[in-house]
Amino acid sequence: MAEAQDFTLKIRRFDPESGEQAHWQDFGVELDPDRSVLDGILQVKDREDASLAIRCSCRAAICGSCGVRINGKSALACNTRLSDAKQTAFNGAIAVEPMGNMPVIKDLIVDMDAVHWKKIQRVVPWLLPEGDPPEREYIVPAEAMIDVTQSMACIQCGVCVSACLSLEVDPEFIGPAALAKAYRFVGDPRDDHTEERLRDLAEDPHGIYDCTHCFACIEVCPKDVAPMSQIMRLRRRATADFGIKDSNNGYGHEKGFVDIIEKWGTLHEAQLLPRSFGDGSMIKGQTEPGAVKQLVESLPTAFRGLKSGKITPRKALLHPKLPDQKNVKHIYKEVHDRDKRIELNLYIVSENSVEEEGAQGEGSGEN
Ligand code: SF4
Ligand code: SF4
Ligand code: FES
Repeated sequence: MAEAQDFTLKIRRFDPESGEQAHWQDFGVELDPDRSVLDGILQVKDREDASLAIRCSCRAAICGSCGVRINGKSALACNTRLSDAKQTAFNGAIAVEPMGNMPVIKDLIVDMDAVHWKKIQRVVPWLLPEGDPPEREYIVPAEAMIDVTQSMACIQCGVCVSACLSLEVDPEFIGPAALAKAYRFVGDPRDDHTEERLRDLAEDPHGIYDCTHCFACIEVCPKDVAPMSQIMRLRRRATADFGIKDSNNGYGHEKGFVDIIEKWGTLHEAQLLPRSFGDGSMIKGQTEPGAVKQLVESLPTAFRGLKSGKITPRKALLHPKLPDQKNVKHIYKEVHDRDKRIELNLYIVSENSVEEEGAQGEGSGEN
């Protein structure tokens, strides 16, 4: 056991009953640097201010109740060492504040019902099988369960919800945790409402196409659920397996993107917009009244791009070639010509050789 060291915790305080504004308060703690930020907070509660509010239980990254932001980054307090937190601290003080994107109830406690649990309920978080149940239990192929294991690892801590950038601009976004949960049922062969679930999540303007691929949820998740990857899998199932054409242009955007890469080997930005509005088709995107209307509506964004120099007429119209773009076309063809989609489950790892894993990966699902 290492020797105890002094740390400063800078904790965000807020008590709605006091009438005071939220403010920062510094506390000194003395602990082994391998102990957690939660241990530090509990020492403050124990020795200095019993009124400090924090939600916690297991102290072992299992119950999911101690989510906070440490030096601005969402994390579990019990899963973050004081020594690690000190390395990213500003002016030596470890800043601890409540999670983001959720209303604060008191000090470090947020109202998870108002955001997180509401969204989980939104995705119908239970199986919806049809027909008579089997006489004994449902038998599920092992590969099918491997496919959903990653999303099942979620402990509902809300840390990804706290970090999500899309939720910051659209509080109605269903969000990373609930969408990862949705994949748990979409990927389960016992569920008989896969298409309805996908259609619902694709059509919702705050659904699967509201994620901006920022990777923040993947970076902070303490259980490697990789919520963004689950969202991408929902999109793949919706577009490739069910051909769901949604009013959010998600289908068109994805199809336009893939078709452009197939044709040119690199992204032709000027073509992407009309194709996205035309269900992937350039002609439809330039002739159908609905698509043309959307194109016209997006002109101010294009003008802003031109004004800032992000887009130039030359770049937009004369799509510049990349030196090795024919290799991308080659990769595309290799993948496209396969009999079935191979998705590797990167979550489950084993001691098996690469060849064995490759054989198991086929049909087992993931990323
Ligand atoms: S990748 Fe998507 S779901 Fe994840 S944090 Fe970013 S916007 Fe949110
Ligand atoms: S996906 Fe990860 S970060 Fe999000 S609630 Fe589940 S365990 Fe927590
Ligand atoms: S106290 Fe249970 S996850 Fe931190």
